[in-house]
Formats: sequence, C-alpha cells, structure tokens
Amino acid sequence: MFYNNKEREIRIFDTTLRDGEQTPGVSLSIDEKIKIASQLDSLNVDAIEVGFPSSSKGEMDSAKKIIKENFDSNICGLARAKKTDIDACLEAGVDTIHLFISTSDIQLKHTIKKSKDEVKEIITDQITYLKDHDVNCLFSAMDATRTDIEFLIDVYKKAEQAGADTINVPDTVGIATPHSMGQLIKKISNEISIPIDIHCHNDFGLAVANSLHGVEFGAKQVQVTVNGVGERAGNASLQQVVMGIECLLNLKTNIETEKLYETSKIVERLTGIQILPNTPIIGDNAFSHESGIHAQGVISDSETFEPGIMTPEMVGHKRRIVPGKHVGRHAVRNMLLDAGLKPNEKELNEIVSRVKDLGDKGKKVTDVDLYTIAEVVMNSISKEVIDLQELAVMTGNQMTPTASIKAKIKGKEKRASDIGVGPVDAAINAAQSLIDEFPDISLKTFKVEAITGGSDAIAEIIIEVEDDEGRSVTARSESEDIVMASVDALISGMNQLMIKRKKQK
Ligand code: KIV
Ligand code: ZN
Repeated sequence: MFYNNKEREIRIFDTTLRDGEQTPGVSLSIDEKIKIASQLDSLNVDAIEVGFPSSSKGEMDSAKKIIKENFDSNICGLARAKKTDIDACLEAGVDTIHLFISTSDIQLKHTIKKSKDEVKEIITDQITYLKDHDVNCLFSAMDATRTDIEFLIDVYKKAEQAGADTINVPDTVGIATPHSMGQLIKKISNEISIPIDIHCHNDFGLAVANSLHGVEFGAKQVQVTVNGVGERAGNASLQQVVMGIECLLNLKTNIETEKLYETSKIVERLTGIQILPNTPIIGDNAFSHESGIHAQGVISDSETFEPGIMTPEMVGHKRRIVPGKHVGRHAVRNMLLDAGLKPNEKELNEIVSRVKDLGDKGKKVTDVDLYTIAEVVMNSISKEVIDLQELAVMTGNQMTPTASIKAKIKGKEKRASDIGVGPVDAAINAAQSLIDEFPDISLKTFKVEAITGGSDAIAEIIIEVEDDEGRSVTARSESEDIVMASVDALISGMNQLMIKRKKQK
C-alpha cells in the first residue's frame, strides 16, 4: 500500500515545498519550510513533497529537519532517475521517492538527450534499485501530456513491472483540457493497475478543472500546492481541488477543510505571493456581499447568493456584508444592529446615502467609516477607549527601527516602545504592546496601498482587527506619513471593535 494510515477516497499530495518553491522569487528558509510542513500535517494532507534533496545542501538539510519532526503525513523527496539522486533521498530518510524522467520528444531531444529505448531501460534499472531499499516509489513521466501515447503507456508499464507503487501523470506545461486529461487518464487506467496520480500546471488557468476531470476518470491522488503557487502560472490550488472533490464530485479527502483559510494565509505570508481578493475559497471577497439585492438575500438565507454546498465555515473563512456604493438599507440596518446601533428610518436613509456617496468617490468603505457616519447622523459619538497622544519613530542604517508611543487608555496615560523590521513594523508593535491589556484582540489584516505616486505619495492603510469571539472591524487611514497612517488605522479599528463589543453586551 502506498499509504497505510489513511483510508478515504482521494489522496492529496502537496508539493508547495517543492514545485511551489520553484515559483520565481520564492525562496523559503528551513524554519519557514518546517512551519509550512507542520501546517500541512495538521491540515492532514496525505503526502508532503519536501524538496529535491540532491539539488543542494539546503534542500538536503531541510528535508532531514522536516523528517525529524515525525509528522503523520507521508514524506516524499524528488529525484531524477539517477542513482545519486535516489541515494540523496535515501540519505534524507524520506518515505517515498518521487522519481521522474522526461518522456516527450521535445524533452528527450533538448533536456536528457536519450532515445526512447534508453529511457525505458533507465526506468527499469532505477526503479529496481530504488525498490531494493524499502521505500515507496512514485514514478512521473515528465511532460506526459505531450508524450506519444503508445510510448507513454509502455513507460508506465515498465515502471509498474519494476515495482513502482503509484504513477503520476504530469501536465508539465499546462496544455491539457479537462476533456483531454479525462481521456488520457481513462486510457492509462485501462492498462495499468497501480494507483494513478495527476499533477497539473495552470498555464491556461485549467489546472483545477483538469485535476477534477482526472479524478472523475480514475485518478486516485492529486498533486497540489497551497494557493496554487508554482512554476510560471503555478500548480493546481490545494484549496480549490479539495473543495471541488468534496463539494462538486461528492468524494472524500482526508483534509480538515476548516483549516484551509489559515493554511493559505500562512503560505501567503511566508512566500510573499499575495492572494487576490477574488480568489475562490480563500480570497477576501470569496464570501463577501455588497450589493443590496445580494446582501438582503444572504441575510435571509445564505444559499440565496452562495453555493450552499460550500460555506465559509467549512473552509475556516468568514461571510461578510461589506458597506459600499451598492449597499442597501436592509444590509446597513443589519450591520448597525450588529454593532449595537439602532437608527430610525430617517437616520437610516441618511446613513445609506452617505455610505453610497463615499463609495461613489471610489473609496473602499470600511466598518469604521460606516460606524462613524452612523454616529454622526445619530448624534451619538461614542467615547474612544484609546486616545493616541504621541508617536516617535527612529530608523536608519546603523540601528534597529524603534518606536515609542504615548496614549490615554480609558483616561489613563500609558507609554510603550518596541522594535521592528522597519519603522511601520516598529510602530505597529509599539501600539500593540501599548494595548496589550486587550490580549483577546489581534490584527488580522494589514494592507498598504499608495494612492498617489512620488516620494510624497499618500499611503492608504486598511486593517482588520478581530477578537477571540469572532467579532471583527475593518478600518482605514490615509496620510503622506505611512507610519502615522498605520497606527491611526490600528487604533481606530481597536476603538470601534471595543465600542461594538460594549454596545452588543
Ligand atoms: O511539472 C512537472 O512535470 C513536475 C515533475 C517533476 C512531476 O513537476
Ligand atoms: Zn510541476
């Protein structure tokens, strides 16, 4: 058996640390790789491809360190069909060796420079060698989707005969369509008895669709990366493949889907590859509703304008009704009631009209904007808990950026200082230590955008703070001074969250 401790239907093989790390510009430290591996293990992926141990000392060391952590997921290392590569995987101590060799004409000619007969011989020799060492063999015919089908089937038969445990069908340059991938998997599964795995790249945006179609036609394992990171346009996204398998194909995976959102955020932070707001499942807008008709429908029954078979709770995300120029009275009333504000009909009309005006000016309307408008209209300005009085930041090439801050918290003066990787980080850290008497509130999102160009550009900061009971507030601040804007946004978000909590009680 390829995996002995899992028995559900479709296996998820994660290659974020190998193919994902091949994303241009991404390079993870060993500690970062361990963090990601540990999160993948708690997500319950069936296998983690930790890297390519023969390729560098760093790859070897990180593979060894990850293996030392004794995760439950099966640990896999990549190897060319070469004894030295197999030995490197054995030295690292992986459970599975992912052995690959090119099979398409173009790659035979330009990369490995071997004939088809030589390739078949190498496969037999190297898999036989590998299997003499009590380790699983996952065999990949690289560029399978551009390989002559008869030769491809011959190659997979050779791999099976030599003892491979699973064969992988890589769409290396992402040229498959769902139809062609389905047909290819069907043909291969008529000839081969060991489990079939697929590995799709996203050059035409079809990696997830091709993976799902491959599963429908018999693939038992799918190779994915968190957030779809990977070479060129990336690999099939773990989140989309898993939810597609579970919700659309009605098959099971072992994945703890409610950890998908947090996993995505960890990988976004560590790789620096930002997720677009409209990214399915884990993007900021994946379960957000602004338009009046949609928001009203969703407030009555979320299935009105959501798939229903997939909810934000299932993936650890949140549904949000967002104030903006398309918002309606019903949604605004609900958002305000939720924050403990009860406008009368006339006040509500005025609040909705001011929110729409702000949206029409091209502004993203945050929760704090909505509450501030409502308080002005209702003439019920709440007393702020934190009142920022002074902020000083020192930075330079000879010192660690340091910030000190003074504020009145519930009327009492408090001071704090902290350091950071840059002036904004130092200021935010200082502000957070100042307000450490609210340990249940954390900063969830921090985004910086330049509204104008030049060195005097206005920076817009949007933040989201959340308490441990799931209440959250978004806030914005704009200034030519990015440090001030950051601290202002954080403090106004904190203030409004505390006001919201008080009013709800
Ligand atoms: O895309 C590819 O072909 C690969 C192989 C190593 C499977 O990543
Ligand atoms: Zn790949």
